[in-house]
Amino acid sequence: MKLPVCLFIVFLCTRCVSGSFPKAENVTWKSINFKTFLTWQPKPSADYSHTVEYSVLGANRQRIYHCIRTDSTQCDLSTSLSDLQACYTADVLSEPPLGVTSDLTEFPHTRSPQFCPYKDTDIGKPEFKLEMSEDKTKTILHVTDPLTAVFKDGRQLSIRDIFSDQLQYKVTYRKNQSSGKKSLNSKTSVIEMTGLDQGESYCFNIQAYIPSRSIDKQLGEISTTKCSDSDKSILQELSLGVIVSGFFLALLLVGIVIAVVVVCCKRQKRVLKSEKEGMPLQGV
Ligand SMILES: *[C@@H]1O[C@H](CO)[C@@H](O)[C@H](O)[C@H]1NC(C)=O
Ligand SMILES: *[C@@H]1O[C@H](CO)[C@@H](O)[C@H](O)[C@H]1NC(C)=O
Repeated sequence: MKLPVCLFIVFLCTRCVSGSFPKAENVTWKSINFKTFLTWQPKPSADYSHTVEYSVLGANRQRIYHCIRTDSTQCDLSTSLSDLQACYTADVLSEPPLGVTSDLTEFPHTRSPQFCPYKDTDIGKPEFKLEMSEDKTKTILHVTDPLTAVFKDGRQLSIRDIFSDQLQYKVTYRKNQSSGKKSLNSKTSVIEMTGLDQGESYCFNIQAYIPSRSIDKQLGEISTTKCSDSDKSILQELSLGVIVSGFFLALLLVGIVIAVVVVCCKRQKRVLKSEKEGMPLQGV
């Protein structure tokens, strides 16, 4: 007889509490390059507010100073989750609005999924530059390691600083206007592309690749596409044509000069000969 009554009271109580302070729903982590937000729904009415607490697994919960009794639906936890290798959970509490007191000691709360920055943060799209080697045989990609929200000794760390040799880049490339794609992985941020057809224009995309992560978290956001210049430029074809025709023109000129010289010499000899023959006669 006693148990049902007890359950009924508990039921009533949760009803009355959650009636005035509805629980947050859809509590999710949104994290890119270690810039980490906790988000939830819906936006609280004027009758209640939300407070965010977080904890490393097994440790005490701590409040996020700038997310106490807020009417926002997100909270920036980037600086709080300072141990990147640790795993965290957070709670979104439903509390009275700022400045309103309540007799309740326990407020309804919704717990987030677990979040481990090092394993879970998404990696944003990298920027890169294309460069052609001096001898035009190699295309070189210079990737800029994306910066993170993590600072150390006043310096903003890049994803390379954090993942070091765990970080690779996946390059996807194709001939311009062709759909056949190829890809390769590079351990460095300067990537020499060898074995490309010379003179062709190729298009490249790059994304971070962290093979030590779980499969769904290995690849970062894909970069914008950049295409190399086609090497068969009009200028080069033109200059080649100029060289070839110039060569033949020179040959022709030399030929003409030789022919003229030969013809002239022969004539002059003949003139001289006839002059010699005619001279004695004239002199007499
Ligand atoms: C939570 O997410 C689901 C699915 O996206 C959505 O249908 C629901 O409305 C959301 N809850 C709130 C309170 O917005
Ligand atoms: C690559 O192809 C596009 C059309 O798909 C063209 O507009 C662009 O100029 C080409 N780039 C080079 C470098 O040839």
